[in-house]
This record gives sequence, structure tokens and C-alpha cells, in this order.
Amino acid sequence: MPQLVIFASGSGSNAENIVRYFLNKPQIRVSGLCTNRPDAYVIERMKKYDIPVLVFNRNDLHEITKVDDWMVQKGADWIILAGFLWLMPARLIQAYPNRIINIHPALLPNYGGKGMYGHHVHEAVIANGEKQSGITIHYVNNEYDRGETIFQATCPVEPDDTADTLAERVHDLEYRHFPAIIEQEVMKGIHNE
Ligand code: GAR
Repeated sequence: MPQLVIFASGSGSNAENIVRYFLNKPQIRVSGLCTNRPDAYVIERMKKYDIPVLVFNRNDLHEITKVDDWMVQKGADWIILAGFLWLMPARLIQAYPNRIINIHPALLPNYGGKGMYGHHVHEAVIANGEKQSGITIHYVNNEYDRGETIFQATCPVEPDDTADTLAERVHDLEYRHFPAIIEQEVMKGIHNE
């Protein structure tokens, strides 16, 4: 059975939504969550579902194999980035070829790259007078937000939007689509093996 480990840096509402979705899907399991923030609310969220959590720092991720070893222990086949804000090390990208999926809260290739996360993205979209924003679900490579796109969905940007109101609309799209797209890609991976 394919097992997912989720990486998240913050609130973790997507992580929780993914966990809930796969509770009812016996063919795929979330076996752990990794976070770089010891105070991230996602840690609280995971307690409800008994999902094991690893907290790591930059050194653990880039210089040693603490994270890699933990994922092997958890039987991880896929990595899901759900609001994870650091670049994945090349080592892990090689270890999980085409098995790392990220969600970005805008329509890539626009509004991506280093520093473009969360409310920074929505502020930039509004400041540029965009009429439309959305989500991009994509494979991860060595550059921020540049891997192959799997799926995009759009939503309007309203004239009176703030970063918060736009974030809410984008989050709705994320909740609606991210788990199903993960499921689709994982099942495709199984069939191509
Ligand atoms: C999500 O909107 C996700 O798309 C975004 O962070 C938010 C996390 O929310 N990711 C990025 O900006 C990555 N560049 P959550 O912690 O409530 O799931």
C-alpha cells in the first residue's frame, strides 16, 4: 500500500484535509508528517489522527539524513508538500523521482519562486490587478515552483479582495482538489510500476 509523508511549515489545514480524505481510502495511507517549525499548528492537528510527526531543522534536512531515515522508517513512497516553505534538497528529489508533489496558491509560472508563499503571493496578485488567481499542483524539481504542472484550477480576484479574502477562496480550491489529485497521481504511479 503506498504511503505518503506530508511536509508542512504552518497551520496545516491542507495537511489535515489530506489526512481526513485518506482515512476513508484503504489503498493509500498517510504515515507521517514532517515540519521545520516546532510551534507549527499542524502538529496539534496531527495529534487528533495519531499521525507521527518529525520536527527537523535546516541541518537535519540538508547536512545529515535524519529526515530521510525517518521517512524510510515510516515506509514513505511519496512526499506531499502542503505549505512547506523550504527548498527540498537535491538528495531527496533524487530519492523520490516524480514522487514529490507540491501545491502553490497561484497560477504558476506566475507568482512563484523564492519568497513567494502564502499571503505574499496573494498580495502580489492583488497589487498587479489580476482578475484571476487559483492553484497549481505540480511535481517538484530543484527549482522553486518550476516542476511539471499536474493540475490548475482558477478563481476570480474580486475588486475588494484583501490577501485574506483571496486566500480563503484559494484555500477552498486547494481543499476541493489537492487530495483527489494526489490520489490520481499515486494510483497512476502504481499502475505504471
Ligand atoms: C497553502 O495555501 C499553500 O498553497 C501555500 O501555503 C498555504 C498553507 O496553508 N503554499 C505555498 O505558498 C508554497 N509556496 P495551510 O498550512 O493552511 O495548508
